[in-house]
Parts: sequence; C-alpha cells; structure tokens
Amino acid sequence: MKKDFISVHDITRYEFHELLDLAQEIKKDREKYRKALKNQVLAMIFEKPSLRTRMTFEVGMLELGGTAIYLSPNEIQLGKRETVEDVAHNLERWVDGIMIRTFAHDNIVRLAAASKVPVINALTDLSHPCQAMADFLTLREHKGGLSELTLAWSGDGNNVAHSLMLAAAKAGTKMAVATPKGYEPAPAIVRWAREDGRDTGFELLLTNDPREAVRGADAVYADVWTSMGQEAEKEARIKTFIPYQVNPALMALAKPGAIFMHCLPAHREEEVTASVLDSPCSVVFDQAENRLHIQKAILLTLMGKKEKHG
Ligand code: CP
Ligand code: NVA
Repeated sequence: MKKDFISVHDITRYEFHELLDLAQEIKKDREKYRKALKNQVLAMIFEKPSLRTRMTFEVGMLELGGTAIYLSPNEIQLGKRETVEDVAHNLERWVDGIMIRTFAHDNIVRLAAASKVPVINALTDLSHPCQAMADFLTLREHKGGLSELTLAWSGDGNNVAHSLMLAAAKAGTKMAVATPKGYEPAPAIVRWAREDGRDTGFELLLTNDPREAVRGADAVYADVWTSMGQEAEKEARIKTFIPYQVNPALMALAKPGAIFMHCLPAHREEEVTASVLDSPCSVVFDQAENRLHIQKAILLTLMGKKEKHG
C-alpha cells in the first residue's frame, strides 16, 4: 500500500480486499496483534467533533500495543497558528503515524505530502474512507458476496456517499444514489468511481428519486442531512431532504431482508425514523464496531512494518 490512506481511490482492488480480510482476522482474534505496534504513537488531529472515530483509533492503538494522543480543535489550529507543512515536520519527529479529521480535503493532501510518517484520513468535507471500509466489511458480513449486491443511498451526496461510491467501485457492488437536485455527488468522485469500477461489475445509478434508488436494494444507507460545518444551512436542508427520509414505506421497496445502514450520529425522525433505525434490520452498531477492526487493519498495514526503539 502507499504511505498514506487518504482515499479508497488510492488503494488497489487487491489491497481493498486484503484490508477487509485482515480486519476479519483481527475481529476473530483480538489478542493476536497485541504487540504489533508496540511503542508506536499515533497523533490524532481533530478539527471536528467525534465519538466513533476517536474511540476506535484510540482503542485500536491500545489493542495493538501502542498509544494515541488526542489533539483537540483548539490545539493545532491547522493553517492558522502554523502552516500544515510545519505541523507535519514537527509531528514526524515524535510520532509514527498521524490521523486527521479536518474540513478542507487539501489539508490532508498537504499534510501527507510533507510528512515522512503515514497519514490517515479520518473524515474531510470530501470523504470518509475509514467509514466506507468498515461499512463494506459490515455489508459482507451480513449479505455475503459484495459483487452480487446493490447498495442504495438516500440523502446528501456528501463525504460518506463519496467514499462508499469509491468502495463500491473496488468491490464491484452496484450503487444507486438518490439526492435532491443540487446535492449530487461531486463529478470528480463520480468519474473516479466509474474509472475504478470499469472491470469490477460496478454500476452507478444517480437519481433524484429515492424510490428508484431503493427499489430491489440489498442495503439502504442514510446519513445526516447537515454535515459538520454546514450548521447554518440546517433549516433549509431539513425542508429539502424530507422526501429522502428512510422510513418503513421506503424500506418496503428494498429487497425482502434488506439491511439499514448509517454511519452515525443519527437524527431520528429526520434522515431515518426510529422505527427503521431501532428495528432488527438496522446494522448501525455493527458498522460502529467494525470501525475498530478495519482501522486496526489500516494501522497495521501502514505502521506495522517498522521496528521501533530496538
Ligand atoms: N461515523 C463517525 O465517523 O462518527 P464520529 O463522527 O462520531 O467519529
Ligand atoms: N456526513 C457526516 C458524517 C459524520 C460521520 C458529517 O460530515 O458530519
């Protein structure tokens, strides 16, 4: 794999499946890699809030024998207190890896280019690749052969949608994305997904009709309508997105036995009703658990090769 994990687009199809397989192995035997990253330190830069990402990276490093250090939004002030490049040149002297959650995707690209140690994307305005990897692990556990499946998205064509599309392209999973007009996925991501999925069986349907997207799907995915950083648009977005709510009527159009997915945090009665989120078809906490296992696989792959402190 490359030095950094910035986008699902950057890994090969083979590496995609290797990461899923390693995560599955780690999940089966949590003791197995207890010392694999002994004495290694991960810096975790957060410019936005988090429950799952912080906990799973921190617990993941602990379970691999290393340590993680949390840097809050007030601490680094990327690009304000000092340049992104200077942050990289400082951190690389002390730590073995950097995880970052930030606004502008370009911050991660610049950090990775400047840093000698691996950089992991833990969400930007453009993408959320660790989430997508965990979600495809979850989809495989619940539904089996990824290349036989269709994943439907109803809502904003946002960071999570982007990474899921790129993962679906690698996996050969069909994807149907329904968004309101003006909220479609970024054309550059659509292009990447179509390129990456050319020989995998991947197909992408882009529509403004949630019912068209969900009809016959094996899994239905929802995310918040207002992502972190878009809070000023909240009221307008609620009005626009109401027709995209995942409720029992929409779920009824999916394949019998279809699962419901959500990266969390969720807002009941907005993007999903409690009657779906809290029902047996919902696998949202399996997704949250799998963040731990897939990120341990990513950490091991990027940081596991080096020997440190003798
Ligand atoms: N799904 C996810 O990334 O959750 P957090 O924002 O809590 O990290
Ligand atoms: N799209 C959401 C995902 C949160 C994990 C956001 O960016 O806020």
